Amino acid sequence: MWVFLNDRFVRQEEAMVSVFDHGFLYGDGVYETLRAYGGRLFRLRQHLARLRRSASLIGLDVPLVEQNLIGVLQEAMTRNDLFDAYLRITVSRGEGNIGLDPRLCSRPTVVVICLPLPPYPAELFTTGVSLAIVNVRRNLAAALPPMIKSLNFLNNILAKQEASRADAFDGLMLNGEGHITECTTSNVFFVKNGCVCTPSVTCGILDGITREIVLALARQQEFSTEEGCYLPDALLEADECFLTNTTMEIMPVRDIDKRPIGKERPGAVTGRLRELFRVNLPRFLE
Ligand code: PDD
Repeated sequence: MWVFLNDRFVRQEEAMVSVFDHGFLYGDGVYETLRAYGGRLFRLRQHLARLRRSASLIGLDVPLVEQNLIGVLQEAMTRNDLFDAYLRITVSRGEGNIGLDPRLCSRPTVVVICLPLPPYPAELFTTGVSLAIVNVRRNLAAALPPMIKSLNFLNNILAKQEASRADAFDGLMLNGEGHITECTTSNVFFVKNGCVCTPSVTCGILDGITREIVLALARQQEFSTEEGCYLPDALLEADECFLTNTTMEIMPVRDIDKRPIGKERPGAVTGRLRELFRVNLPRFLE
């Protein structure tokens, strides 16, 4: 496996980052997960823009200009001979002395990895997955804004551990007010009386790129859509529920806290949105 590290491609065995890297010491850095279909990248510009936004919100410079980053992503696919791929760009604060001050680090560390897609068992897309509403709350926007896709993922990891203990595929987190937010690496939607609903970004979520596409496809299809603040009951009483992210696309949810959601799996609207996503996919590839 070839890995891009700072300014060149190296073999995975040689892709080493310092133990003094502030990404390792403090989770100080940002990342993006991208997906390639036949060598073409899904919503490339949007992912790169979000990487820059995350970096700018923590006062970090992404040292590579957009064109160079795109070149690196493409070379990562060709070198590894992987065209249906998972790609991850990580930018950390870089190596520096102990201490929180970012000025201790003179140069950010940039890593790009390219791997086969994580294998979601195909049957999950028909049976749906189980969720648990976890006790761990989503980071407060005033503390660590979920809009920053940071390397500091402990909030989500604690939620994932809690979900695993409940035998669930993933954990759904609430915010400080008890409104639903998102799962550990995906956005959540539910359908009620034909309306496609999802927590608003003001609830404290990552504004998912797949989420945006699903909302647009639903509107094009003349489904009504709503972005709002919802208590867990709205979800538990929904006709359908599904998750979205770049690697999973649209994943139906079967039950939440062991309570079945709706009657058919996948629900009719979820199934239609999945179809629309697939048909329109070429429009979203660069
Ligand atoms: N996760 N919410 C969170 C907390 C996420 O980490 C992600 C993405 C999403 C969905 O965003 P998008 O549709 O842009 O992929 C929502 C990626 C897949 C990850 O962390 O690997």
